[in-house]
Amino acid sequence: FDWPLFWTFLRPQLLALSAAVVLALGAALLNVRIPVLLGQLVNVVARCARGHVPTYLREVRRPALRLLAVYCLQGLLTFGYIALLARVGEQVAGNMRKALFSALLRQEVAFFDATRTGQLVTRLTADIQEFKSSFKLAISQGLRSGTQTAGCFVSLYLLSPKLTGLLLVALPVLVSAGAFIGAFLRSLSRQAQEQVAKATVVADEALGNVRTVRAFAMEEQQARLFRAEVDRAGHLSEQLGLGIAAFQGLSNLALNGIVLGTIFVGGSLMAGDELTPGDLMSFLVASQTVQRSLANISILMGQVVRGLSAGARVFELLRLEPLVPLQGGISIPAHSLRGRICFNHVSFSYPTRPGYRVLEDFSLTLPPCQTVAIVGPSGGGKSTVAALLERFYEPTAGTITLDGHNITSLDPSWLRGQVIGFISQEPVLFGTTIMENIRFGKPGASDAEVYEAARLANADGFIRSFPEGYDTIVGERGTALSGGQKQRIAIARALLKDPAVLILDEATSALDAQAERAVQEALDRAATGRTVLLIAHRLSTIQGAHLIAVLAQGRVAEAGTHEQLVRRGGLYAELIRRQ
Ligand SMILES: Nc1ncnc2c1ncn2[C@@H]1O[C@H](COP(=O)(O)OP(=O)(O)OP(=O)(O)O)[C@@H](O)[C@H]1O
Ligand SMILES: [Mg+2]
Repeated sequence: FDWPLFWTFLRPQLLALSAAVVLALGAALLNVRIPVLLGQLVNVVARCARGHVPTYLREVRRPALRLLAVYCLQGLLTFGYIALLARVGEQVAGNMRKALFSALLRQEVAFFDATRTGQLVTRLTADIQEFKSSFKLAISQGLRSGTQTAGCFVSLYLLSPKLTGLLLVALPVLVSAGAFIGAFLRSLSRQAQEQVAKATVVADEALGNVRTVRAFAMEEQQARLFRAEVDRAGHLSEQLGLGIAAFQGLSNLALNGIVLGTIFVGGSLMAGDELTPGDLMSFLVASQTVQRSLANISILMGQVVRGLSAGARVFELLRLEPLVPLQGGISIPAHSLRGRICFNHVSFSYPTRPGYRVLEDFSLTLPPCQTVAIVGPSGGGKSTVAALLERFYEPTAGTITLDGHNITSLDPSWLRGQVIGFISQEPVLFGTTIMENIRFGKPGASDAEVYEAARLANADGFIRSFPEGYDTIVGERGTALSGGQKQRIAIARALLKDPAVLILDEATSALDAQAERAVQEALDRAATGRTVLLIAHRLSTIQGAHLIAVLAQGRVAEAGTHEQLVRRGGLYAELIRRQ
């Protein structure tokens, strides 16, 4: 567990936290006083039991009022420390959440290849929640229970050393038995929770992929799967309920047994004039307080252990530094940026699959303001070339340069945000309006700029044909649009930032012939004045490229214009012949 990091979150709340601790301590000390005052009251009551009402009222007023005052003060202190702790807890948890989210967004793409999104969301929500609750509990309950146990033991001893001695024998036995059963119940509860989570995963997958489920008519099978998981969870939870019921029954029996035993032994002491009735009353209340406190402490222990491990998981992610920071490095002034890109002997394996070379000694130059196309077999590494240029990954060997600067020396956020426009193979939109989605390319863009980019991407027409126009909501990840519409919006999004370098990864693959022509026109228009890296399966879309590179076995096998390559009769000519 990372205490120094936790301290950075705690430090701003130190004042409120110290106040809470002081108030909690005060409340606990008052709790220790209460049994003694109660005993004094009972003594007065017992003395006056046969006296007249007026003397009784006179005598009882002082101890009763004192007790009332202590009750009120105790209530006030309790209110104070709980309110303060809630504030501190929410502030710390909120700040941790914000920091964790930024830390996650900062991580490199390879991190997300290796980690499941659901897991990260759990870190962000459930783990921080758990940590917060046990932190609050440790302070409020821990302080109170600890002080009360110690304090009440002192008053118990002062009241009657003999009775206290008996209690000291009985209590540890009962508490350790309780802790043992408690640990068993907790493990049962964890199992039940995990089983519920399993059922949730089934539901999540089926509901999230409802189209696939429907297309394969798998509703009944998925429902059966879910039923089985839910039944198993229900079974475990029933067992847990049974265990809790037994535990409650047993602990009631034990507590009542202690009361009975105390009165029994105390009675004999009273008969020998060693104890007043008031002392016995004080003793009973104080010993109940001790029992409750000890039970609380044993529950608290388990909670704190769970909270610490949840916190440790969060802090581990917070400490994680990405290999490539989002910012930092030089940027080339806009007027001298030409957009010449060179891949020099680049080799690359994905970090999640280190033994598998995707690119091997790959060299390619993209001259400024020209279009270079890459073709090659599926899985040959074309999209990987684009990912390396975006610095989603770092080459294993070799360098990539922009206008002669190694891109590792350039500011990544400048490179991605202002130089490169990237239209990926499977464009994904956010679940907001079309307007917002296009503006994602350049947050400060005016409406007019957005319309212009949409026109350039041949998207303006179909957007305006929707009843809501640019305010149409595109659905989760853009599912409420056709493939071609999604692509054209992605093109508009990339064009909005007027990038010097444009990467198109099979941007026309999901379109019919007519729409493809529309997009092709848009792309031809957009390509002028930019360096374009065009990745395509359909050879018809790349014949106008200034240079065509054929990717085979991770390197450029041949390169040239369409005519040159056809004349050469190599791989490209073979591809053309087969299409
Ligand atoms: N994130 C990843 N982690 C590990 N391996 C990957 C990852 N992405 C791609 N690969 C592997 O790298 C190789 C090249 O993939 P890439 O996506 O670059 O191919 P491609 O040429 O774009 O293919 P296609 O024409 O089908 O789009 C493939 O064997 C693929 O399995
Ligand atoms: Mg690809």
